[in-house]
Amino acid sequence: MKIKVGVFFGGQSVEHEVSIISGIQAYYAFDTEKYEPIPIYISKKNEMYVGSEVGKIESYRNIDELLKNSQRVILVNEGNQVKLIRYPFKKFGSNELGTIDVAFPVVHGTNVEDGTLQGYLRTLCIPYAGCDVTASALGMDKYAMKTVLKDNGIPVLDCRLADIKRYHGAPLKVIEEIEAGFSYPVIVKPVNLGSSVGIKIAWDREGLEAALDYAFEFAEKVLVERAITSLKEVNCSVLGDYEEAEASECEEPVNSDEILSYEDKYMSGGKGGKTAGAKSGGSKGGMSGLKRKLPAEIAPETREKIRSLAVRTFQALNCSGVSRIDFMIDMESGEIFVNEINTIPGSLSFYLWEATGMPYAELLDRMVKLALKRERERGEITYSFDTNLLAGVTLGQGAKGSKA
Ligand SMILES: Nc1ncnc2c1ncn2[C@@H]1O[C@H](COP(=O)(O)OP(=O)(O)O)[C@@H](O)[C@H]1O
Ligand SMILES: [Mg+2]
Repeated sequence: MKIKVGVFFGGQSVEHEVSIISGIQAYYAFDTEKYEPIPIYISKKNEMYVGSEVGKIESYRNIDELLKNSQRVILVNEGNQVKLIRYPFKKFGSNELGTIDVAFPVVHGTNVEDGTLQGYLRTLCIPYAGCDVTASALGMDKYAMKTVLKDNGIPVLDCRLADIKRYHGAPLKVIEEIEAGFSYPVIVKPVNLGSSVGIKIAWDREGLEAALDYAFEFAEKVLVERAITSLKEVNCSVLGDYEEAEASECEEPVNSDEILSYEDKYMSGGKGGKTAGAKSGGSKGGMSGLKRKLPAEIAPETREKIRSLAVRTFQALNCSGVSRIDFMIDMESGEIFVNEINTIPGSLSFYLWEATGMPYAELLDRMVKLALKRERERGEITYSFDTNLLAGVTLGQGAKGSKA
């Protein structure tokens, strides 16, 4: 029997469209001898849809039309199986439209990639590919991530966190605090976004104010750090889990501006930059459509250092499945910093694994196996604890449970 894999993409995130590209690429790349992939589109309202149109990239040119022609479903665990149930229910006939054995999130950004979808899947008791709830949440919060990496001796740029309430209450104070810690230029980023959304470099106080105002349009917490002016960016993917993990080939994204923009990342592949690849799994579109040098133009020692730091980062954050770790090299000092982790990287970094000699179908196969492994290991842990605590309990009004 083939394993039924629910491939989830979309969701209430600014990276919704990119996720559609990544998700559909993945859907077509599964080895269909072994797997039966089922595309599940999560709308911007976080509603789930299935149907024959959902797996076609062309359908997303008109999403309203797509939703009309597709079936909304809810997921229900019944009899140890997760069922796709038609919603709203039909009065007569079966509402069960299928089942899935494994969930495969290919979502990017807040409200999905940040542990939200993972938590939902966990409550459904279904194995799912990729990072668990905690690793996903840590990976999405640039500040929390840096804190854990620092604690593990992994080089990251020092940063300062600023929150919207304090900033709006006393902007000058916040600016002075930043200026006391850093000299210009600095870079301001929302802590929990991706795709360069909300990011600006500031060269002076006026610029800092503008950058803070801008970043706070997108998030309640932003971080500020030194801007590296002579920057080389290198990305490396890691596949595995806490026990065993390996690094891919390194890539060097090529940017047209001082910050690698949303346009650079997703729209620079010409026509292909906006559309997912063909049935083969695609060579254009999403992160795979970005202009890049692959392999990165770096010395062999630098490459090895980056690959080893990538694995350490992945394991320090307790990641699983495939992640992409993005590095910054300060070309003036030669220092290497981990910039961020993407726990569900664009295009799942399949192009980095292809360059390492692993076809996309094998990458997906390994990810499903890791999901099943984690589920087996979870099965060995006790999650419910039988007690007779409730046997004699009556609660008077206003009574509080006592927690030892
Ligand atoms: N400290 C920095 N100095 C210089 N450029 C930076 C710095 N941090 C980020 N950038 C630039 O901004 C881009 C986006 O920042 P990043 O932290 O990767 O956020 P995102 O999650 O949006 O990708 C990077 O790819 C890089 O080009
Ligand atoms: Mg980035």
